[in-house]
Amino acid sequence: MANNDDKIICRCEDITEAEVLRAIEQGTATADEVKRLTRAGMGHCQGRTCRRLVNQILARKLGQNPEDQKPVTQRSPLQPISLKILADS
Ligand code: FES
Repeated sequence: MANNDDKIICRCEDITEAEVLRAIEQGTATADEVKRLTRAGMGHCQGRTCRRLVNQILARKLGQNPEDQKPVTQRSPLQPISLKILADS
């Protein structure tokens, strides 16, 4: 059975729960800071899959409400789009 720390939080960047927890131990307190330190949220989906999990881990470790977490900085495009759409615009 896999260790809970081996649980993948960010599938796009292969970031585990242990890596997120290590980032929090190093002083990160927001999903944006975790993102900068671990790359969780910088993958193809731009955090649409992992952002909520990172917020839940932060909230659990820091005693915060997950909904109170600051939203992460998003870069456009906010959704994956084809190059054809960009080229045609
Ligand atoms: S799952 Fe984290 S960026 Fe896609």
